[in-house]
Amino acid sequence: MSVHNSIKRVTTHTLQEMKSKGEKISMLTAYDFSMARIYDEAGIDVLLVGDSASNVMAGHETTLPITLDQMIYHAQSVVRAVKRALIVVDLPFGSYQGNWREALKSAIRIMKESGAHAIKLEGGEEIQESIKRILSAGVPVMGHLGLTPQSIYKFGTYVVRAKEEEEAAKLKADAKLLDEMGCFALVLEKIPAHLAKAVSESVHLPTIGIGAGPDVDGQVLVSHDLLGITKDFNPRFLRRYLDLFDMTKEAVQRYISDVKNRDFPNENESY
Ligand code: KIV
Repeated sequence: MSVHNSIKRVTTHTLQEMKSKGEKISMLTAYDFSMARIYDEAGIDVLLVGDSASNVMAGHETTLPITLDQMIYHAQSVVRAVKRALIVVDLPFGSYQGNWREALKSAIRIMKESGAHAIKLEGGEEIQESIKRILSAGVPVMGHLGLTPQSIYKFGTYVVRAKEEEEAAKLKADAKLLDEMGCFALVLEKIPAHLAKAVSESVHLPTIGIGAGPDVDGQVLVSHDLLGITKDFNPRFLRRYLDLFDMTKEAVQRYISDVKNRDFPNENESY
């Protein structure tokens, strides 16, 4: 048996078991081969090929511009790198909101062309029919409620969602619906911790929080934020583990200086 085959893959069932045992789920975004390989070797449970690629990889202000073809390109790169983690891919804005046929076609393209294991989409009751059809096709679905960045122009701001009773009640109802429909997990983004706790306790599926406090079944962060590659994004929920922007800048400055001073390459670095 090769080393590759001996690695036990994380599946949607693994996540369900982890919730049952009270073991927290770790999830991070990944968009390219090299970084996905590091995260997978580190032992991350779930890698999300997030449409946040639109922000951190392409430099757009929102997640709206990224296309389905671009998401598939990122997902293919991540799939080539990963041996253990479950790989989930975001359906990008405009690829599923129109009708269930469009949603199903987009989900199938992602699964067929990238080799990823599941898709994620934003919303609840409004996209119920699309979720049902995607699930019927055998594609595992991760939901996403709370601050859903594809609706940023409807919200008008990135502040905490569902602080008011009406929005909290809709979120609870949507979470219950996604759970009953058979979604395998649910991202809860930027909502009060007490609400995230209540939702997590009331549903069967594992919840993954980002800015949703500690009482969820797992946590997700955008990898560029955790590594400190992004500099000007400092929400309260973010914990930075590195300052890669400054570390990389300093390394490149040293390289520039070595080139200018004729220090690089030296004799040992030449043929
Ligand atoms: O696209 C993304 O990175 C996400 C996470 C923030 C959950 O959806």
